[in-house]
Amino acid sequence: MKYFSIAIDGPAGSGKSTVARILAKRLRFIYLDSGAMYRAIAWRIINEKIDMKDSTVFRNLVQSTQFEIVSDGLLVNGEKIDEALRTPEVSRFASEIAKYPVVREILVKKQQELAKGHHVIMDGRDIGTVVLPDADIKIFLTASIDERAQRRYLELTQKGLKVDLQQLRDEIRERDENDQNRAISPLRQAEDAIRIDTTGRSIDEIVEQILSICCTKMGGDE
Ligand code: DC
Repeated sequence: MKYFSIAIDGPAGSGKSTVARILAKRLRFIYLDSGAMYRAIAWRIINEKIDMKDSTVFRNLVQSTQFEIVSDGLLVNGEKIDEALRTPEVSRFASEIAKYPVVREILVKKQQELAKGHHVIMDGRDIGTVVLPDADIKIFLTASIDERAQRRYLELTQKGLKVDLQQLRDEIRERDENDQNRAISPLRQAEDAIRIDTTGRSIDEIVEQILSICCTKMGGDE
């Protein structure tokens, strides 16, 4: 049986997770938020006060972190820890640890394993270039930095968190720089990806646009 895969890449706040989640429901594909896996590693390092200079301990922590896709998200070592993964501290640190070859090497393998034997939508930074280079559909989402900061601001304030818009903008810029300039698997558009600028456009519009690309590519069977 042929399994379809859709890779959605883009910078922080480009709307990829929201769009990917809706698309997965509509298409009945599994959804893997690869960023949550980098966040989970960062969260464990902080929580368990791991000494990253000890390469054996560091490698073991990454290797021993188990991920499972469930209908409403991702389990990390059997637990749902979504909220804990969304704090500004974890966001910043996830972008830092994502530079380490050992982290990328192990997480990429885990992502490929999770995708096997399923119709899958995966979002991240290197899905179309590294994790699923043969994905049937590759989308690269972008949006202006102001709009991305504004979206994060709304998302966090709606959860009751106190945040400063300018600070969020600076943090996003810093993360963009980290993600685009790291030596291994930097954020970049795959040559065969379709670029969609989401600035000023609604989530529904983007979802419909991608669904129509899917219908064409997959022979119209949603
Ligand atoms: O998508 P996100 O903001 O939840 O991702 C958190 C961090 O993880 C991001 O700053 C970079 C890293 N990341 C990555 O390097 N490669 C991926 N495929 C996904 C995320």
